[in-house]
Amino acid sequence: MAKYEIVGGNRLEGNVVISGAKNAVVAILPATLLVQGVCRIENVPNISDVRILLDIIRSLKAKVRWTDDSTVEIDTTEVEYCEPDPKLVTQMRASYYMMGALLGRYGQAHVALPGGCNFAARPIDQHVKGFLALGADVTETDDFVDIKAGPDGLHGARISLDVVSVGATVNIMLAAALMEGQTIIENAAKEPHIVDLANFLNTMGARISGAGTDTIKIKGVEKLHGATYAVIPDQIEAGTYMAAVVAAGGDVLVQNVIPKHMECITTRLREMGARITEYDDSIRVVRDGPMRRITVKTMPYPGFPTDMQAQICVCMAIANGISRLTESVYETRFFGYCTELQHMGANIVINGKTATVTGTDQLVGNTVTAKDLRAGAALIIAGLAAEGTTTVKNIHYVERGYERLIEKFTQLGASIRRIEE
Ligand code: UD1
Repeated sequence: MAKYEIVGGNRLEGNVVISGAKNAVVAILPATLLVQGVCRIENVPNISDVRILLDIIRSLKAKVRWTDDSTVEIDTTEVEYCEPDPKLVTQMRASYYMMGALLGRYGQAHVALPGGCNFAARPIDQHVKGFLALGADVTETDDFVDIKAGPDGLHGARISLDVVSVGATVNIMLAAALMEGQTIIENAAKEPHIVDLANFLNTMGARISGAGTDTIKIKGVEKLHGATYAVIPDQIEAGTYMAAVVAAGGDVLVQNVIPKHMECITTRLREMGARITEYDDSIRVVRDGPMRRITVKTMPYPGFPTDMQAQICVCMAIANGISRLTESVYETRFFGYCTELQHMGANIVINGKTATVTGTDQLVGNTVTAKDLRAGAALIIAGLAAEGTTTVKNIHYVERGYERLIEKFTQLGASIRRIEE
């Protein structure tokens, strides 16, 4: 077990370079299993979720190697169907993309139910709905999902999702890319990582259109070929550093971002009083003066992301006045961090889907525990803004999704160190 120790109060100054997007790469890596050939994936963050996923892909006899710090080469020529190791699959959430990838490549998948961040009930009924519509038989037990071609075989289909689901949209795209006929996903997720997966698959020879809108069309092709592809920058990692500057105060150039993807976050931080300048592929964030209260409601993209809920909550906790934060994707997400923030002096009252946050002058350091990835990020931001020393425990959650976090914050002038217990 390891923990972070943060001495708060330092302004953040300088440059930070954002890594490749976790939620894009965890869809793209399984997608390489659909390809017969060699894929070179660039801008891959070296985070624990990626390392687990690469081990799963290796266990299917793909040849996987890092050719430099951020490039992974995956040769899928000798991949054979087998059940992904449940011990690996249960360590992370996005391992459920093995269902769509294996179904797409081999017409069958027997995959353990995923693990990962459990900040809410995370059903997969929409994924299953998609597989059934594509002609699969699906059997679910407490621990496993078994998917195989039904009596009429697998075929393209029109699928209208009942809820906007990133995971279900990705799994259906993976399953349908090599399937005979046309698949149409209605009410599809529009997140940047959905577009990135479509771009990756199209670079490999797929015929996917409409990604980024709520209707995605997939015309099945016979084969995908290898190629080189660079993953988009991580919207949430960038947003986390931006929120950290706003909470702790400072002047930071956040580099390697797509400013368009950041708009939903940029707008809110500006409303709070941050000065934000957008350039082609970087954003400068300056916060000197007091912060104002704001109202935020999380929504699927292009709305304010639920994965930034906890980080913006820290900014609200030290802004002037009463802010309101409403969660519309995962109702129980507040419980992952609000109690911990209260231990640092935050004034937060949760009523159903809404947290009312009354700003306080100063958070104070304490020992707190990360209960999921983004909750952990929020506690780090709180520690940077707080007076005194904050110890964040359970940081394995944070290391799932943030590459070289200590190095990046240290470079910005933060006092933060990792302690092995
Ligand atoms: C993805 C992200 C996660 C983010 C979330 C919402 C990845 C790897 N993870 O998670 O970081 O917090 O999107 O932006 O990209 N739902 C159902 N049935 C389903 C699937 C989902 O009811 O079959 C509901 C969920 O409970 C939730 C909503 O739909 O309320 C959105 O979930 P979804 O977009 O699927 O989240 P994930 O793909 O798990």
